[in-house]
Amino acid sequence: MASSPIPNLFLLLLSLLPFLPIFSASNVTLGSSLSANGNNSPWISPSVDFAFGFYQLNNTNTFLLAIWYANIPDKTIVWHANTTNPVQAGSNVELTASGLTLNDPNGQTIWTSQPNGTVSYGTMLDAGNFVLSDTKSNFVWESFSYPTDTILPTQILPLGGMLYSKFSETNYSKGRFELHFTDGGDLELNPVAWPSELPYAPYYSSRTDNSNSSESGFQLVFSQSADIYVVKGNGGVVRLSWQNIAQNPNNYYRATLDFDGVFREYTYAKTSVSGQSWSIVRHIPDDICMALTNPQVGSGACGFNSYCRANGGTPSCQCPFGYSFMDPNNNFGGCKPNFPQGCGVDDGTKKPEDVYDLVEIQGVNWPFGDYESLGPYNQTQCEQACLNDCLCDVAIFGGTICWKKKLPLFNGRMEAGLAIIKVRKGSVPPSGSSSFPISNSKKDKQILLWSSGSVNVLLLVVIPLMFFSIRWKRSRKAEHDSSVPETNLHLFTFEELKEATEGFKDELGSGSFGIVYKGVLKFGSKKQVAVKKLDKSTQEGEREFKAEVSAIGKTHHKNLVQLLGYCQEGPHRLLVYEFMSNGSLANFLFGLPRPDWYQRTQMALGIARGLVYLHEDCNAPIIHCDIKPENILIDQNFTARISDFGLAKSLLLNQTRTHTGIRGTRGYVAPEWFKNVPVTVKVDVYSFGVMLLEIICCRKMAEFGEEEKAILTDWAYDCYMNGRLDILVDNDQAAIEDKVTLGRWILTAFWCIQEDPSKRPTMKMVTQMLEGYVDVPIPTSTSFSYSSS
Ligand SMILES: *[C@@H]1O[C@H](CO)[C@@H](O)[C@H](O)[C@H]1NC(C)=O
Ligand SMILES: *[C@@H]1O[C@H](CO)[C@@H](O)[C@H](O)[C@H]1NC(C)=O
Ligand SMILES: *[C@@H]1O[C@H](CO)[C@@H](O)[C@H](O)[C@H]1NC(C)=O
Ligand SMILES: *[C@@H]1O[C@H](CO)[C@@H](O)[C@H](O)[C@H]1NC(C)=O
Ligand SMILES: *[C@@H]1O[C@H](CO)[C@@H](O)[C@H](O)[C@H]1NC(C)=O
Ligand SMILES: *[C@@H]1O[C@H](CO)[C@@H](O)[C@H](O)[C@H]1NC(C)=O
Ligand SMILES: *[C@@H]1O[C@H](CO)[C@@H](O)[C@H](O)[C@H]1NC(C)=O
Repeated sequence: MASSPIPNLFLLLLSLLPFLPIFSASNVTLGSSLSANGNNSPWISPSVDFAFGFYQLNNTNTFLLAIWYANIPDKTIVWHANTTNPVQAGSNVELTASGLTLNDPNGQTIWTSQPNGTVSYGTMLDAGNFVLSDTKSNFVWESFSYPTDTILPTQILPLGGMLYSKFSETNYSKGRFELHFTDGGDLELNPVAWPSELPYAPYYSSRTDNSNSSESGFQLVFSQSADIYVVKGNGGVVRLSWQNIAQNPNNYYRATLDFDGVFREYTYAKTSVSGQSWSIVRHIPDDICMALTNPQVGSGACGFNSYCRANGGTPSCQCPFGYSFMDPNNNFGGCKPNFPQGCGVDDGTKKPEDVYDLVEIQGVNWPFGDYESLGPYNQTQCEQACLNDCLCDVAIFGGTICWKKKLPLFNGRMEAGLAIIKVRKGSVPPSGSSSFPISNSKKDKQILLWSSGSVNVLLLVVIPLMFFSIRWKRSRKAEHDSSVPETNLHLFTFEELKEATEGFKDELGSGSFGIVYKGVLKFGSKKQVAVKKLDKSTQEGEREFKAEVSAIGKTHHKNLVQLLGYCQEGPHRLLVYEFMSNGSLANFLFGLPRPDWYQRTQMALGIARGLVYLHEDCNAPIIHCDIKPENILIDQNFTARISDFGLAKSLLLNQTRTHTGIRGTRGYVAPEWFKNVPVTVKVDVYSFGVMLLEIICCRKMAEFGEEEKAILTDWAYDCYMNGRLDILVDNDQAAIEDKVTLGRWILTAFWCIQEDPSKRPTMKMVTQMLEGYVDVPIPTSTSFSYSSS
């Protein structure tokens, strides 16, 4: 039958139609062009993973010249030509010997690639890189060299490289955040002024810039195995501060600086799973709402006048009552009041009470940019102060201080403080906000209560933790010693603390220079606290007081005991801390029953991280100087928290060593203390090493009894060398089964207690050694010993 082959061939062709783009997976020859009309086949990579061409933006007749994932329903864009605006239908791109040229429908050139040689052909590579090559197949241009917001495995950011976020979920214009791999070799995330793109101070830094170029960052690498790290000039690898991942070879990976300022690594299974979307593997920073800690200018993550709440690292933005989003389609664009306000709006014939309502939001704060701070005030006084001040738009009340603020508010977040918002009577709630139940109190004051379930849960957590406003500024009544710098602390009156401790009744113990009492704050959260009453008028007491307040008042880390506030009234010097319900690490380790191995390892890691924070992540390094199990407290979640900063030494910015008298506790102090040489953060590393052995072995660093076991460090070394880790952990089965970790940890401890401070690792390296990111060799020098002071 003559007619049969023809329909068959036709059917065959039809069945191939969906796969036709595969056929174009070859070199793009000179003269090839694509046009933006919604039905042009893009240029596809041989694996069909990526496509280059015109990408039609959702529901519009505009396009981006872009590269996207071609093989999954979620055709995520990984690169686009940096035209100021998306291009119109009818635009066209052509490949010539001088590169790619993008023309608008009128033939006007709006973008060109600028190859550094003569182009012979182009290729969409399987890695997602569109390259132009010369006749010798050398690349003369590649999209990987001009990234937008995304980098892909095998892509490298060289010195000076940059990613910029898009403007919003759906708008691909340059947005409010940039990722820079700076010329100095540091990976930084910066907010940028919009629209001039001037970068503000970074909210994340890898701290890999160094004047020694072999120690300084050289490339930001996204490896084939889906890891992202900084490579130093000498080839060393510096990990970013996020968790390690195990790559799944059947997945796609990408890392994107998202429009909300979070740098996220994503993954997506290559095999189709219905309803799949990109899932977040890890991200930096942990919590963007809290990350912008010291802005001089700029709006914060959510835009002006709004406040930010992070849920698993993803921020969401909310307008205060009486305000609404500036751009209803972009919650990150900030809020504006729905009513006129400010001086001059009213003629002064009406009482402010008749014009404004006050709305309270518990646990919301705009911690920067107060124009006045009044106190000691009670809440009523604070409300009145704002109400009667035409400049005041919002007041934050925290304990005894009232901070006045005017618009625009910036860096709003869920944080300690009671926000009192001044809202013109009769102004409608922001559109789209849920029905806020409002209870009118006698004073005609509106209390804003949260209604949605998820929010309630959040506030239950946030408010008890954060009752206190976290700043303290000059107060009128209490003494202010100018040698105590401004900190984030609450200033208590002696009377308040006396009441909280019921007249200093319940003694918890005695620390250096004072007795610690248990107390319960009588107002607000009824929070349990530990109040340390310093011995009167000793010089050490005074010094400890200042050391604690200035060193630790500004720190915040989950492995440090938080100083909540203090009292400095007449002769009284008191420090108020969070109450730690599970006692000290010393009780925990050396008591019975023996704590389990896993719990011990978690605590040791926590303490190490706390020390990394003190040494490296504070404005200026802080040397604790007295690390020992008695000074580590354990909270109700069994998290270990470093406490007692009475001996701490805060270094000046850029200072790395200091001359100071011997501080610390016998057995834990590093040998250099006795040598009259300047000390560095490495003295804490030494103390940590001794304590690490105690944590591993559950025994004290020195014990009477059998002579060869008396000094833990020496005994541990002998045991290790004799291959008897089992006796070292006293037959702790879980530890013995975790032999590799156990061995690595013991070696790490040996490195920490090296006699020569320069041989000791930094605490950052210690955490990497403990976590197994780096190999831990056997120390070549065994010159460590019990430093008998
Ligand atoms: C593209 O062209 C180069 C050089 O002519 C050649 O080596 C390569 O095999 C070509 N690739 C494809 C997929 O045709
Ligand atoms: C596309 O637009 C529709 C309606 O405007 C919206 O629901 C959808 O989420 C958009 N999709 C993307 C990927 O932006
Ligand atoms: C696009 O990128 C190039 C090269 O980085 C730069 O010179 C140019 O100014 C950018 N154009 C726009 C519109 O941002
Ligand atoms: C030209 O550009 C390519 C790709 O961007 C790059 O790999 C190559 O080193 C450049 N060559 C010169 C001479 O700059
Ligand atoms: C995207 O945002 C920029 C900056 O606000 C704006 O100029 C531009 O018009 C927006 N584009 C679209 C398509 O909405
Ligand atoms: C730079 O650091 C390397 C170690 O990576 C060291 O060997 C070298 O001496 C240092 N150079 C200078 C000038 O400090
Ligand atoms: C607040 O302080 C004022 C003035 O000291 C006082 O009159 C008022 O009773 C106080 N209000 C409360 C609720 O304590």
